[in-house]
Amino acid sequence: MAKADDGASKRPISHGRVPAAESTKAPDESKRALKHHGAVSVVVVALAVGAFAFRQQIPSLDFGFLTRPPHVVPPSAQVIDQKAFNVLGSVPPPSEAHGTSYFFPPGTEMASLKAKPFHIYDYDFYRIIGAEPTLTLIAETSGNPMFHEANVWYPATDEMFFVQNAGAPAAGTGLKQSSIIQKISLAQADAVKHQINATGMVSVEEVYSHPQVINPNGATNYRGKVVFTGEGQGDIAPALFLMEPTEPYNTTVLLDNYYGRQFNSLNDVAVNPRNKELYFTDVSYGYLQHFRPQPVLPNQVYRYNPRTGAVTAVADGFKLVNAVCDYDVELDGTWSNRKLFAFVDSGIPDGVHCDAAGNVYAGCGDGVTAWNASGKLLGKIYLGEVAANFQFAGKGRMVICAETKLYYATLAASGAPITDYDYTGTY
Ligand SMILES: *[C@@H]1O[C@H](CO)[C@@H](O)[C@H](O)[C@H]1NC(C)=O
Ligand SMILES: *[C@@H]1O[C@H](CO)[C@@H](O)[C@H](O)[C@H]1NC(C)=O
Ligand SMILES: *[C@@H]1O[C@H](CO)[C@@H](O)[C@H](O)[C@H]1NC(C)=O
Repeated sequence: MAKADDGASKRPISHGRVPAAESTKAPDESKRALKHHGAVSVVVVALAVGAFAFRQQIPSLDFGFLTRPPHVVPPSAQVIDQKAFNVLGSVPPPSEAHGTSYFFPPGTEMASLKAKPFHIYDYDFYRIIGAEPTLTLIAETSGNPMFHEANVWYPATDEMFFVQNAGAPAAGTGLKQSSIIQKISLAQADAVKHQINATGMVSVEEVYSHPQVINPNGATNYRGKVVFTGEGQGDIAPALFLMEPTEPYNTTVLLDNYYGRQFNSLNDVAVNPRNKELYFTDVSYGYLQHFRPQPVLPNQVYRYNPRTGAVTAVADGFKLVNAVCDYDVELDGTWSNRKLFAFVDSGIPDGVHCDAAGNVYAGCGDGVTAWNASGKLLGKIYLGEVAANFQFAGKGRMVICAETKLYYATLAASGAPITDYDYTGTY
């Protein structure tokens, strides 16, 4: 918390009351210019797990749907009135209601919350879900967490990749064997969108990378391919793997050390849309989940410059549980001004992604939660279980990984543009 305060004291207090001498400072001007040009300005980070996303605001895109919200609650949605539980009268003790317990607003229970899974906490959520949002269970396992993270949509084949959980005992992965990569076809998922349970109707195919990506956890589109963070295995070093998204899924290793030291267990990765560098997080989950030795490096975010090979730490101090923070992304690619973005009511926020309008979404203990860019809670896609990660597949489609379940959702919002999808090698 002291760290957050330090950051806050460096930020201008308000635009209206900044002293004249302060207001002429170059950094402020560059930030304002950035906003006007609609470039990237912020990165949003789930601190406990190191999942993160760059938030872009591109005013030239068509957000027509944003100005025409429906006034009718869609059949698959329900309004959660936050004022209705400001005063509960009898508030359960900490042994019952804590960071990982579920909260049931008065008059609701698990079954009613799941029956209409689009939960409208704020009027702005209508714009995100549109008139007819759908949520479909498309695959299910009995205990093995096959649907964990690393959701990446590859537009050319209209497929979504994702990976098995490398650290869960029920997966039998980590030290014993590597977690695997799988994929589905979005066309197959879309064909069953009006069903609630369509398990068995969408093929889930294993992706055999060559050489194999060891214990993948995070991934993103990169230079027309897919880059995975591998968490390592025993003394095998964590690494960044670049995989061709089509057969035979040839793979090369981009990076496997920090000046000769093994990373802890690489977790998540994203491309900074402005400088096109890869930013990735390294956290100690491999050690905590007993498949990596004791870490020799702090939990940090790094950036990798593919042109020069430079690897530089950009942020540290990942300790707050349940919190999502944001940082300004400076023109030189550094991060500054960490501040609290949101604190979630259920579980630990994980996979973080933004939509084309700059709204922020995170996988949480009870599903996918959406906030506007200022951290105002808009609503939830409620699963009643952990959503470890998810990803948009272009316009109005989303795939959600819930460990033992895989969901397909349709809604009005679109994913943020993919940086470098059509990379042709010009930088
Ligand atoms: C979904 O349908 C399958 C096949 O009918 C069934 O085995 C499974 O229990 C259902 N899952 C849920 C969560 O209802
Ligand atoms: C994949 O790798 C194999 C073996 O190195 C090579 O023969 C093949 O040409 C590669 N395929 C592609 C599409 O790069
Ligand atoms: C988020 O919503 C709040 C409350 O309506 C509003 O003041 C704020 O400007 C919104 N933020 C963005 C970035 O739209």
